[in-house]
Amino acid sequence: MPPINAPNTDWTVDQAWLSYGADEHRVWDTLYERQSAILPGRACDAFLRGLDTLNLHRGGIPDFARLNADLAALTGWTIVAVPGLVPDPVFFNHLAHRRFPAGRFIRKAEQLDYLQEPDVFHDVFGHAPMLTDPVFADYMQAYGEGGLRAGRFAQLHHLARLYWHTVEFGLMDTPSGLRIYGAGIVSSKTETLYALEDRAPRRLGFKLERLMRTPYKIDDLQPTYFVIPSLRALLEATLQDFGPIYASLAGADDIPIGVVQHDDVRFEPNPIAV
Ligand code: PHE
Ligand code: CO
Repeated sequence: MPPINAPNTDWTVDQAWLSYGADEHRVWDTLYERQSAILPGRACDAFLRGLDTLNLHRGGIPDFARLNADLAALTGWTIVAVPGLVPDPVFFNHLAHRRFPAGRFIRKAEQLDYLQEPDVFHDVFGHAPMLTDPVFADYMQAYGEGGLRAGRFAQLHHLARLYWHTVEFGLMDTPSGLRIYGAGIVSSKTETLYALEDRAPRRLGFKLERLMRTPYKIDDLQPTYFVIPSLRALLEATLQDFGPIYASLAGADDIPIGVVQHDDVRFEPNPIAV
């Protein structure tokens, strides 16, 4: 592995906003309208507030320079363009410096519902609103720092599951019912409805070690979602030193995704909204 701070290895590229075509901007607008119509009452307040504040529907794919002026003023985070997925240490290093790497490309009009690689819609619509929340902003930075440390324990797979089950596919328990904060859910129409209202998936209370023992699916709707009590509780549960947790996980078996254990807390789906 190259040294993390080697020069010119941050993998960033120019967003080149002027080079997007009208068809690409149209894909953004279509997806934006579709998601923003179904997210009130389904996404958590922090997400909805952030979406509103960042004003991501001025017409087409947001210009990161414009977006960053607002985002940086709120929490010190910026979005940086990358060509696609970047190596783990590069990713962690960006997060540790409050930079969120976002793909600059956008999916084709024929792929509105599904794509495996994160594009600018997933990365910006899904992730940027939560980065306006001060507590979540701290969590993401701490995660990046934790990633740089976990490499030394050879525990990246356990830490990656934490990211997946929270940042990407997390649900939150609120007095009005379950709400979404995970970027992989809010950027997908199918998964937004499925995660909250379908009877099929399991919704289990967040427990750090239990979650780290649970592998995930990258190519289908999630069989299990983990539910946090609040963003503050998530941050507090993760601020402890993970060294001892990694040590205990080294001897523990994985819990296949979909399996429910006797001490798991289960949540009912929200009633189907009309
Ligand atoms: N506390 C973790 C560690 O000791 C770092 C971390 C913080 C990881 C927040 C994820 C989220 O490595
Ligand atoms: Co993502």
